[in-house]
Amino acid sequence: MKNISIAHSGLQTSNIILGCMRINALSLKEIDTLVYTALDQGINIFDHADIYGDGTCESMFSQAIGMNADLRDKMIIQSKCSIRKTGSGFYDQSKEYILASVDGILKRLQTDYLDILLLHRPDALVEPEEVAEAFEILNSSGKVRHFGVSNYNPLQIELLKKYINYPLIINQLQFSVVHTPMIDEGMAVNMFLDQSVDRTGHILDYCRLNEITIQAWSPFQKGFFEGPFFLDSKYAALHQALEKFGKQHGLDIPGAAVAWITRHPANIQVVLGTTKPERLIAGCRGSEVPMTREEWYGIYHAAGNRIP
Ligand SMILES: NC(=O)c1ccc[n+]([C@@H]2O[C@H](COP(=O)([O-])OP(=O)(O)OC[C@H]3O[C@@H](n4cnc5c(N)ncnc54)[C@H](OP(=O)(O)O)[C@@H]3O)[C@@H](O)[C@H]2O)c1
Repeated sequence: MKNISIAHSGLQTSNIILGCMRINALSLKEIDTLVYTALDQGINIFDHADIYGDGTCESMFSQAIGMNADLRDKMIIQSKCSIRKTGSGFYDQSKEYILASVDGILKRLQTDYLDILLLHRPDALVEPEEVAEAFEILNSSGKVRHFGVSNYNPLQIELLKKYINYPLIINQLQFSVVHTPMIDEGMAVNMFLDQSVDRTGHILDYCRLNEITIQAWSPFQKGFFEGPFFLDSKYAALHQALEKFGKQHGLDIPGAAVAWITRHPANIQVVLGTTKPERLIAGCRGSEVPMTREEWYGIYHAAGNRIP
């Protein structure tokens, strides 16, 4: 397992994160096994959100492992807020909602503090002064140590930065070998290709420039939660390319897909959401395997992208 430093935080973390979005499908015993498998592999960072399982993922997590001070010290725990599910669903970054949400998260996780709080999705009605006030209260009361965002573009981050007195250290974004808009737009600059369309505001370069660590969510899902790409024959060429690379390094296809992400010099963390310990181990193995430039570009090409 490779470790990385998260800039502006002093945090040293594994480049694999255990994503806890679906752990409520498991028994408490199975969650305990999954979390200890993660710790045994060297994973020290765990990703939650207040909406995962409507809060049950957080409460089952702490219940399953019997949260205590010793365990808590070994973990970097992050959670997210701002998505509300009532009605058609909406985003809420009001001061009151952020504060109430964090209190709920801490209670469910049976902890006094979060290492990192992420704003889950940009709120079209955001009033950044309110976010700043909420962050001030959360940090000065010891409830949240660091802050970040998820699914943000550069200007949305700049708007927050104008008001917030803390560095935004993380941007969690969907990224995988089959979801590469932030690579595509940089690869086909000034051309009339679909790939040239600027869908992220060049978020990859922005994060590198500003030392914001990117965390890749859904590293295997095609589309928006349409299932793992390696179960879809549409990606036959990609399967072949990953299989070839994997065979040389003792990796399965998902493990090779992890290696493709961690090859990027931006030190991107991979949020693995599997609920199966053996799949978690296979993914971790991929995270430390080196990949040549030629292999990396070859896999990108096999995923259906042009290299102009
Ligand atoms: N910030 C955001 O907006 C956002 C959005 C979505 C997710 N997330 C985070 O990202 C994490 C990962 O998301 P995810 O679970 O959608 O993505 P994922 O890690 O790509 O997993 C997707 C699916 O692949 C399956 N899978 C994994 N390894 C497999 C293998 N070797 N063979 C067959 N199937 C395999 C998993 O099922 P099994 O459990 O059966 O292995 C899962 O259903 C979440 O837990 C959450 O923490 C963040």
